[in-house]
Order: sequence, then structure tokens, then C-alpha cells
Amino acid sequence: MGLLEGQGAVVTGGGSGIGRATCRRMAEEGAKVAVFDLDAAAAQTVAREIGGEAFAVDVGDTVAMQAAVDAAAVRLGGLSIIDNNAGTSTFNRMHELDPAEWERVLRVNLTGVWAGIRAAVPHIRAAGGGSIVSTASISGTRPAAGEGPYSASKAAVAALTASAALEYGPSIRVNAVSPGMIRTTMTAPWFEYMPDQEERFVRGTPMGRVGDPEDVADVVVFLCSDMARFVTGQNIVVDGGLTLHGSGVDTVFERVFPEG
Ligand SMILES: NC(=O)c1ccc[n+]([C@@H]2O[C@H](COP(=O)([O-])OP(=O)(O)OC[C@H]3O[C@@H](n4cnc5c(N)ncnc54)[C@H](O)[C@@H]3O)[C@@H](O)[C@H]2O)c1
Repeated sequence: MGLLEGQGAVVTGGGSGIGRATCRRMAEEGAKVAVFDLDAAAAQTVAREIGGEAFAVDVGDTVAMQAAVDAAAVRLGGLSIIDNNAGTSTFNRMHELDPAEWERVLRVNLTGVWAGIRAAVPHIRAAGGGSIVSTASISGTRPAAGEGPYSASKAAVAALTASAALEYGPSIRVNAVSPGMIRTTMTAPWFEYMPDQEERFVRGTPMGRVGDPEDVADVVVFLCSDMARFVTGQNIVVDGGLTLHGSGVDTVFERVFPEG
């Protein structure tokens, strides 16, 4: 028996990367999955692969999200899980950022998560309870230069998660995951344009590698499952330890005590 046997689940951004891996893992664990993505063909491909349902929807459009979640609940025979994972990024100095770009990132990364919670809560309640997981980022707690709207939107996802956990317990648990550097379409340019960057990430990560989408997907499945029945309102970091560096004195210990 799978960890999510018989449960109906919506995964946004399910057509690629972390979302696609999550759709696959949820299906392996017995869930019936609705793959939501802006990219209709990508959603179709993943849905076909896992025997799920595909929905072409923009998470930032609250009206379209409501309609799609309502339709998914019918097609899946009920809904007890939503994974608000769709996201987008940008890289620019704040004073050079176009207001439209600011709006675009906040609309997808923050409004999109709220739209998912808003649309799914009545269905999850009707199913007798369940779980909401949203994809934040280590950028939300450890922002980098150039990521203003991205890091602010991801910090907001963690805050929204905490508020929702307070509003919807005990029947609905609400958590976030904060991936570190994961190899997906979103991060491909990092490695393409700065080949030395991979080695830097590997060196800075105690687990000694860049992450794979499945590393995050497994944590999402855990959070949605009964294994996490006493976990709510949390923002779980899945970064192989990348963000443990922070004091500015890391590597000093190894220089003082080289033989260990
Ligand atoms: N890859 C990483 O290192 C990393 C790190 C931290 C957080 N994240 C977050 O993980 C999530 C998934 O990213 P990924 O790395 O798998 O990227 P990805 O580009 O591989 O996948 C993102 C998917 O979301 C879809 N999408 C984008 N905008 C959408 C919208 N408005 N409505 C519906 N679907 C939309 C895309 O079409 C795509 O299929 C994002 O929220 C991202 O911010 C990724």
C-alpha cells in the first residue's frame, strides 16, 4: 500500500523539474494526480505517463485556478492534497527592474500559491482533511543579490504557509519546502553559462552534489503522507546542507585541525 493510496492530488508546475518528479512519486505512492501547468503539452506528457489528468492553467489567474481545481476534484473523485509548486525567477538589480517583471514574479510565486490554497481548501475539507505543500526556496531565508522579487516572494510563501497552518488545523496540515540548488530547467542556465559554478556548489554542499528533483519530491510526498501527521506550518529546507555556511568562519576549523 502506497503512502498516498487513493488520494486526489493537484501539483502545479507539474510539467517540469521538481513538479514533474513530484507527480511521478505521488502516483507511485498510489495518488490520483492532476498535473497543472502553463505549458499544456508538458502537462499532457506527464499526465499520460502517470495515468493522471492534465490541466493547462496559469496559477496567477485566481479565476482559472478555481475552475481548474474544481474540475480536478471532480475528475479525481475528491481532492485531499495540493502542491503549490509552480514558480518563476528573475535576475536583476532592483533599480533596473521593470515593474512588469516585479508583478510577473510576485503573481506566479506568491499569488499563485494563495490561489491554490484558496481554491483547494473547500475540497480538502470536503474530503475530511488533507495536506497543502508549497514550494518556497532557500532564497527566501538566504537571499542573494539580484533576486529581489524572487527571494521576497519565497519568504512570503513561508509566511503564508504559517498563517494557513494556523487557519486550517487540525484537519489540514500546511507546509513548505525550500529547495537548495536543484538541477532543473530553471537552474540550467547557471551551469550552462558558468560551468565553474557546479564545482562551487558541490564544494559548498556537505552532501557533495547538486540536488535532483526527486530529492525534493520525496520530501513533498513525506509531508503529504500520514508519516508527517504532527508536522504543520514548517518550511523544510532540502538543500544538502548548502545554507549551513553562514558564520563567515567556515573552513577555519579544517585549517586549524587539518588531520581529521
Ligand atoms: N531548481 C531549483 O534549484 C529551485 C530552488 C529553489 C526553489 N525552486 C522552486 O521550485 C519550483 C519548481 O521549479 P523547477 O526548478 O522545477 O523549475 P522548472 O522550470 O523545471 O519547472 C517549473 C514549471 O512551472 C511551470 N509554470 C511556470 N509559471 C507557471 C504559471 N504561471 N502557471 C502554471 N505553471 C507555471 C512551468 O511551465 C514549468 O513546467 C519553483 O517554485 C521554483 O521557484 C527551485
